[in-house]
Amino acid sequence: MEHLTFPSSILDTTPDGEDPSVRAFREEVFTSPGWKEHGLAIIEGIPVEEPELAARYAAAVSSALGRLLPQDGAGQLVREVKYRGVKLGEGATGRYSDSREGGQFHTDGPHRPDTAPDCFALLCIRQAQVGGGLILVPTGTIIQGLDPASLAVLQEPFLFDQREADVPPVPRPVLEHQPDGRWHVNYLREYIELGHKHPAGTPLTDGQIRALDRFDQEVAAAVAAPDRLEVKLAPGQLAVIDNCRLLHGRTTFGDDPQDRDRLMLRTWIRELTPVGAAVAAPPGAVVSDR
Ligand SMILES: [Fe+2]
Repeated sequence: MEHLTFPSSILDTTPDGEDPSVRAFREEVFTSPGWKEHGLAIIEGIPVEEPELAARYAAAVSSALGRLLPQDGAGQLVREVKYRGVKLGEGATGRYSDSREGGQFHTDGPHRPDTAPDCFALLCIRQAQVGGGLILVPTGTIIQGLDPASLAVLQEPFLFDQREADVPPVPRPVLEHQPDGRWHVNYLREYIELGHKHPAGTPLTDGQIRALDRFDQEVAAAVAAPDRLEVKLAPGQLAVIDNCRLLHGRTTFGDDPQDRDRLMLRTWIRELTPVGAAVAAPPGAVVSDR
């Protein structure tokens, strides 16, 4: 896949308007063959030696594409994705992005109470030697394989655990038909299981479990297909991933203690700026290691 570069002026956008080169960069991303065909663009050459500067670049490159979304109740816009010594679903707050196991194909943000991102970006600061690759499968293929009964059930609300202490789960369908005819998928099976086990939730019905199992079968078939996308980012590379068209997971990393040091910076992006339009100034990079 072709790798794109960003303009050095990307940090200079002011409230008075953006540099024309930033607009040209957005056009290059959204018209690139990888984005048009798959919903994936890879930008390279981002300086990642200094953590604060890397976070500013992650926010600026992402803001050139659309509006940044908070990733937790504290309003964090750039989140460190790294192994925090927990398993997915552990305790009240253990997230996929805090663990190192692979699998659990998902879209980002299905558990947030406001809205899920249209796309997200991952900037690689440090990569694991073994594992840590991204695997991406098209949601369209998965939906096409579903039977009508499962399609109907998956359009009804499921409960997603918010992965925050003392808050109720969020009701949201797995499949949402968008006004433009596209589907948006909200999925992370473990968060659904946890949401329905929550004291404020109700147990999954047999019909819901059947529909989720059917969805997982289609995901497994797509993951096993030869045309699945697999990307292992190198330091300084940033992947922009369409959260509507792709489900993603990763390969397990960190069997070797040195490999547990893998670090990505993640942003969530919504309301993608159309090609040819101007964008407001990026907010300051809010980064924390929560
Ligand atoms: Fe994710």
